[in-house]
Amino acid sequence: MSEPQITVLDAGGQYCHLIARKVRELGVYADVRPSDTPASELAGRKGLIISGGPSSVYEEGSPKIDPAILSQSSAVLGICYGLHLMVHELGGVVRRGALGEYGLAVLNSTGSHPLLSALGPGSQVWMSHRDRVESIPPGFEIIASTDTCAVAAMAHKEKPLLAVQFHPEVVHTEHGREILAAFLFEICRCERDWDPADRIGPIEEHVRKVAGSRNVFFFVSGGVDSTVAYSLCLRALGPDRIYGIYVDTGLMREGETEFVRELFQSLGAKAFRIEAAEAEFLKALEGMSDPEMKRHAIGEQFVRVQERILNSSQFLDGSWILGQGTIYPDTIESGGTAKADLIKTHHNRVAGIQKLIEEGRIIEPLTSFYKDEVREIGKELGIPSRFLQRHPFPGPGLAIRCLCSESVAVLERRLQGWLIPVRSVGVQGDSRSYRPALLLEEPPSIEALKTATRLTNELSEINRVVSKVASRLDIEHMEVTRGFLTSDRLTRLRLADAVVRRHCEESGFDTQVWQFPVVLLPVGDGHAPDSVVLRPIHSVDGMTAQVVLMPADLLQKMANELLEIEGVSAVFYDLTHKPPGTIEWE
Ligand code: XMP
Repeated sequence: MSEPQITVLDAGGQYCHLIARKVRELGVYADVRPSDTPASELAGRKGLIISGGPSSVYEEGSPKIDPAILSQSSAVLGICYGLHLMVHELGGVVRRGALGEYGLAVLNSTGSHPLLSALGPGSQVWMSHRDRVESIPPGFEIIASTDTCAVAAMAHKEKPLLAVQFHPEVVHTEHGREILAAFLFEICRCERDWDPADRIGPIEEHVRKVAGSRNVFFFVSGGVDSTVAYSLCLRALGPDRIYGIYVDTGLMREGETEFVRELFQSLGAKAFRIEAAEAEFLKALEGMSDPEMKRHAIGEQFVRVQERILNSSQFLDGSWILGQGTIYPDTIESGGTAKADLIKTHHNRVAGIQKLIEEGRIIEPLTSFYKDEVREIGKELGIPSRFLQRHPFPGPGLAIRCLCSESVAVLERRLQGWLIPVRSVGVQGDSRSYRPALLLEEPPSIEALKTATRLTNELSEINRVVSKVASRLDIEHMEVTRGFLTSDRLTRLRLADAVVRRHCEESGFDTQVWQFPVVLLPVGDGHAPDSVVLRPIHSVDGMTAQVVLMPADLLQKMANELLEIEGVSAVFYDLTHKPPGTIEWE
């Protein structure tokens, strides 16, 4: 591989690798190095990009750069914290702002700097910062601002030093791609030397090198990542040297085990085994209602099953190494949701697996890729799109969609609707909330969605609003019932989920949503103790999400069929964006 033309200097930002990836997507080879990499090691680069990061430049111990990078010939683009570092190093002032600026802002570009030439008036950019530039360093000029941020972009009048407060690398910045392209091609004069389609050959080469003469076994889930990682190893080493194991936790969706079996057959797997572990998972979850306890119990149980398999005589001799579908976001400790982090740690970094890592007995071919790149690689490998375009499904499975209640309680009348005293998880700022939901009597609509958004802002006792789609009982006759993670309730949820999935696939609605969790809520009466909550959302990366409203006729058909499921008394529709509600209820 030739030398990269661009190096992203990592100042601790969760988007650092995203920047490198966006540069590669534009056809330019980029790598990522620590922010304080000595200038001498970066001398040949056409450009450097200093990433954002959570620190403040004026704080002790915050990430630094080698100041010499600002006086050599490579162009430098600072992003967010990268802007602050440049200002700080070159004699300007950075201060903590009275208010942060998070989310979309409208950029007023002043003049026609080549970096921003693609931007029309009032272009949207995505901001996430508290510190701000109070005065720019000598020799610089402001090239863009927003109503609340005087220095949204600055450039040196003579040298190729540029910096932006907003994040051109995230999709929410309208012309982010054009801004990065302008930096690469107008300012750094990069050439196109990176073809994303060239990835498979080098990955296979890497797999063969790491494996040597050893064989690879995989714990697969049927999800996109482990399937693509498995296929890469299968291609690199041949089917005789790959073993796949799928652990059936009993917490999966209807038909999943058969689906996975068929998937691996179609991939050309020779050795594939399904480990039935439903009973032990249900036992471990008995009597639990707290979401984090459930996750913990599932993680622990997974560890036990994996270790049992790893310690079976078949894999004990040194001729086997473990393959995993870990992708880049899984390796970011601070990124993703805290819960995803927890379960991922359980799955991919448990004690037994940690030992294999230390012994050099692990192979993870996808650790530098993001989900959409993994999908592209899968497509190039010829994996059918029905396997690649599956919606994300959480590691703990239906367990976190089956809400539990230890006691019976009444729904409480409120001015705006009914308070359901079953708590679900929400997120605001960086904090988790765990609060009841409010039930509106009106059906889902654009108006109801507006009301819901207003109510979650106004009422501090709730973090979620649902609206009633259909029910067998009047709301005043419904109550919170006692319910745990039992085989009966999981079966009920599985049936409901299957009904929803079938309608979505038949109508094509599944292509209009990013994910569609179906939740079982212990609300009903002694006869039919549960309700079903529909939660179709749109998202880009799972970090934020918007409610998607369904066509009324589809919703009605779906609801009618859901009410026929034994034990279901009502169908609700979740009207809560993320934030303040998380995508999953737990
Ligand atoms: P939340 O509910 O935090 O979900 O808005 C964001 C994305 O992460 C998935 N999710 C999980 N995935 N283990 C996982 O592997 C988990 O414990 C977990 N919790 C949530 C969720 O389905 C959504 O795509």
